[in-house]
Amino acid sequence: MIAYERAFSRRSDRDCNWRLSGIGKVIARRFATEGATTVICSRSADRIEPAADDIEHALPDDTPGTVHPVECDVTSASDVRALVDVTLTDFDGIDILVNNAGGAQGNDGKLHTISEDTWADNLALNLTGPYLCSREVIPPMAEADGGSIIHVSTANAAIGIGASAYSAAKAGLYSLSRSIAVHYGTFNIRSNVLSLGTILTESRRETREEADGDPYQELRDETALGRLGQPAEIADAVLFLASPCSSFITGANIPADGGLTAGVSQVFHRAANDIDEQPVRDEIP
Ligand SMILES: NC(=O)c1ccc[n+]([C@@H]2O[C@H](COP(=O)([O-])OP(=O)(O)OC[C@H]3O[C@@H](n4cnc5c(N)ncnc54)[C@H](OP(=O)(O)O)[C@@H]3O)[C@@H](O)[C@H]2O)c1
Repeated sequence: MIAYERAFSRRSDRDCNWRLSGIGKVIARRFATEGATTVICSRSADRIEPAADDIEHALPDDTPGTVHPVECDVTSASDVRALVDVTLTDFDGIDILVNNAGGAQGNDGKLHTISEDTWADNLALNLTGPYLCSREVIPPMAEADGGSIIHVSTANAAIGIGASAYSAAKAGLYSLSRSIAVHYGTFNIRSNVLSLGTILTESRRETREEADGDPYQELRDETALGRLGQPAEIADAVLFLASPCSSFITGANIPADGGLTAGVSQVFHRAANDIDEQPVRDEIP
């Protein structure tokens, strides 16, 4: 038996590494650290080029991994085609696609308040973008040795909380991913979804610093682990799904939410009955 806390440093959302903002940046650093040639994109060269420089500076000296920024709007078919073309021209092939670009758009909330533009924007970024990127990488993956596609979704998609249009689009990823898994499995292409709980990125830290008290306490209490996630933990999970360690996993939807969805009925029960119940962990001395 290995003492867990001695083998691995215990995680906390309070001692987060904030130097890299956004989950995508931390995923890219993780892959490059492992030696991957990593192409990253955003809608703006002014944002993605400094991000690539930051990642390069944070890499260990001895890694062969590299980071290459490309300006690309993932909601544009021509941009995505150009991104894939330049990647195939400059490098050997594409083994891994991480559909991470996403987020709630516009004034999204309860359905009767959402405009058609907001609905369309949420679907474009969170579902059409992953469709376009997957569509372009599948043929070169199939011609090579296969590959792994990882779609970054949200726990909200499964439990009907949060922004409606965003959640609907992210729920669509489950079906998109399963179709890819079923149609292209014999080409050794795997496709999986990672459904995130609240992850403390740089932008969320700024919100926290501006707010009175701790705006995340309630969210922490809703998780089984009693804390929120770190971008590095998501990067670890994405790396697992990309690697041969997960070679028999495809078509799966894996929660990375600290146990939020595992205990969701308890959350609703407490909210509906106005019960201020202490988690069991507080009862154990
Ligand atoms: N943080 C959380 O608690 C949480 C929880 C559940 C799920 N997620 C999901 O995790 C993923 C990453 O979230 P995050 O918190 O890191 O978000 P973030 O900090 O807002 O980063 C989103 C990234 O997507 C890029 N992006 C947005 N629109 C794009 C477009 N049309 N084309 C290309 N790139 C685009 C942005 O770059 P530019 O603006 O420069 O284009 C940015 O780099 C998202 O899919 C999000 O839905 C996050």
